[in-house]
Amino acid sequence: MDRSSKIILVLFPVAIICGILYVHHHAQLRDRIKTPLDAPKIIDPLATSAAMDPHRFWGSYRSGLYFGLKTRSPQSPVVGLMWMQQFGEEMPPPLRHWCDQGDRLPMYGWVAHDGANFGLHEILDQFYTVSTDFVKHPGGSHGGDWSARIRVNPRVQNAIISLYFYMALDGSGYVSQDIKASRLQSISGNSVDLGNFELKFPKSEKKGVKYDYLVTHAPSLAVLKETVGRNLVLKQWDNSKSIQYIALAGHRLPQNIEDPNFIKFENTFHLKQKGFDAEHFGFAQAMLSNMLGGIGYFYGSSKVQSPYNKEPIEYWPAALYTAVPSRSSFPRGFLWDEGFHNLLIFKWDQEFSMDIIGHWLDLMNTEGWIPREQILGDDSRARVPDEFIVQHNSNANPPTLFLPLQTIVKRLIKSTDPKHRVYLENLFPRLKAWYKWFNTTQQGPLPLSYRWKGRNADAIKEINPKTLTSGLDDYPRASHPTDQERHLDLRCWMALASNVMMDIAQTLGQPYAEYEATYNLLTDNDLLDTLHWSERTQRYSDFGLHTDAVKLERPKVKNLQPGQRPPQLDKQRVVKKDPKYQFVDSTFGYVSLFPFLLRILQPESLKLGRVLTDLQDPSLLWTQFGLRSLAKTSPLYKKHNSEHDPPYWRGSIWININYLAVKALHHYAEEIGPYQNRARSIYQELRTNIINNIYKQYRSTGFIWENYDDVTGKGQGVHPFTGWSALVVAIMAEEY
Ligand SMILES: *[C@@H]1O[C@H](CO)[C@@H](O)[C@H](O)[C@H]1NC(C)=O
Repeated sequence: MDRSSKIILVLFPVAIICGILYVHHHAQLRDRIKTPLDAPKIIDPLATSAAMDPHRFWGSYRSGLYFGLKTRSPQSPVVGLMWMQQFGEEMPPPLRHWCDQGDRLPMYGWVAHDGANFGLHEILDQFYTVSTDFVKHPGGSHGGDWSARIRVNPRVQNAIISLYFYMALDGSGYVSQDIKASRLQSISGNSVDLGNFELKFPKSEKKGVKYDYLVTHAPSLAVLKETVGRNLVLKQWDNSKSIQYIALAGHRLPQNIEDPNFIKFENTFHLKQKGFDAEHFGFAQAMLSNMLGGIGYFYGSSKVQSPYNKEPIEYWPAALYTAVPSRSSFPRGFLWDEGFHNLLIFKWDQEFSMDIIGHWLDLMNTEGWIPREQILGDDSRARVPDEFIVQHNSNANPPTLFLPLQTIVKRLIKSTDPKHRVYLENLFPRLKAWYKWFNTTQQGPLPLSYRWKGRNADAIKEINPKTLTSGLDDYPRASHPTDQERHLDLRCWMALASNVMMDIAQTLGQPYAEYEATYNLLTDNDLLDTLHWSERTQRYSDFGLHTDAVKLERPKVKNLQPGQRPPQLDKQRVVKKDPKYQFVDSTFGYVSLFPFLLRILQPESLKLGRVLTDLQDPSLLWTQFGLRSLAKTSPLYKKHNSEHDPPYWRGSIWININYLAVKALHHYAEEIGPYQNRARSIYQELRTNIINNIYKQYRSTGFIWENYDDVTGKGQGVHPFTGWSALVVAIMAEEY
């Protein structure tokens, strides 16, 4: 009697403690996604400050705008430019501000940019050219000062244009303006990040120029254009017609501004030496300038969600210094693009890349996860449809940062600069956590196989459920996603990652045996063949539950009442033959090439010979413009994925993968083996084809494009796309 009551007394508190622990544990799980990784940050919070890096404090970091400057700090004052044509046909005339394909500008982009000190930018509008240049002058403790020069050259008579140069302050601080006779003389103010500042407008007494001004309050930086649009009024024009001209005072651009840049550019890429003419040289310089001029500085938090969150929650607010794929359509950070961007950027300035990669890795949470698309701040969120904003912590993206790191780390290892050692030391724990996240969460069904998580087996409207996480969106995989599938490309990315991890760990005197062992297993050609070589087709391939007998068909509506109109239903996938576990044999394309692209194949491997033969076959991937993404013989070549999704990675020529192919051919041309000479000749041909086509399209359209049509070579998708398509510069320079 006594005993049993005692037992109850003991058990009771235990039950309560369990309950509390459970609640506590659940809250912890919910917050995990937004808990930063507990490791020193690579980028010191003050690293981008004016005091630490005055050189790059100000810059064209609002790269999604045609022209915009800000500082690399969370609450920077921003300046920017809007313009419109007066007396045009459209009423009200469209106001240009954010880079927008809908503006249909014949061309715009950086003519020259060095990523830090100056930039020359040209915008061709329908009837006039707008030049927006800036140059910085070092000095003081806030990154020096800068001048911007905005010029308009009409290409037809009587084109009248209004320029709106603005300054805005987001957050604390103040601005005041000096206005005389309705003309703005200067703006002065104070902000936390900048201290006191002043912006002066030069006195220009051009005839027929009219000056107005607007001082107003906008609810956020995202609606500046709308705010200006709402505050336009009609005023009398006094018969004389002229072009409005606004510029900033102070320094003029040096006459020979291109010279120092020209020399550094040639010293870096040796294009003159390689025999490229002045036009190609100018083209390459513009491509690099646009990559550098696309680098932005963003601040804010992502919306994220884990299985433990009912609703999306806010990540911690953080800074991101990053290049962007496209100033018009994707003006924000994308994880897998960024690895490719930095293959070019680090050749120009390694410190830029170290800074960018450090910022990205500092966004890692305690799980070792980095959100793959960075939609930070009002400016950015306003441009993305709601359904794409939330980032899920089960989703990967190829760890391409290891591509530039492979070379950067080798250089840092040799460096005697103590700063570089510190960088490596801070880099390592973050990369280690990132690597572990991939190596555990994206594991495949068999040892040392990998699988992209997140394919939706229930996507009944898709003929082949997408693999967005792989970066290759609609590239065909096994028709029926299951947890038994093995993805070839991810396995090869992991081999690359293991290689870099092994190098860093060894240098830092950290345990590296496990990385080395994993690297050896992932590059073991026999083991690779066991998991991914299809004997039937003699090709590398994904493995999974698959059938080719799938079709999109419109569902028949049954039981219609007489006179009732049938509802319009989207087409759905119909499976005509049961899928079975097998290699995805009918699909040949970029994924099949990965063991070659990431140089995992041994130079003497017979399989390398087979890949080279396939590469040259025009009925498969070879075109005179570069390698197409999916073989013409594949069932889903150029097929829609759903009624509304046009083909994306199903035939078009993409420059990031072509870059990897050229780089791999260059590698095999150097390695002694039976295929050395063949690799060399294919290398030369492919390199020439890619350069010629991108250059030709640039000359005829004024832009570099997201991808290129495999039949006509025409640029398609969004433009300008001076993200990874700008890797053409590295291909020209043969710097891989
Ligand atoms: C990666 O995962 C595999 C499979 O679980 C494991 O055997 C290997 O040791 C891991 N590698 C590292 C470096 O953690």
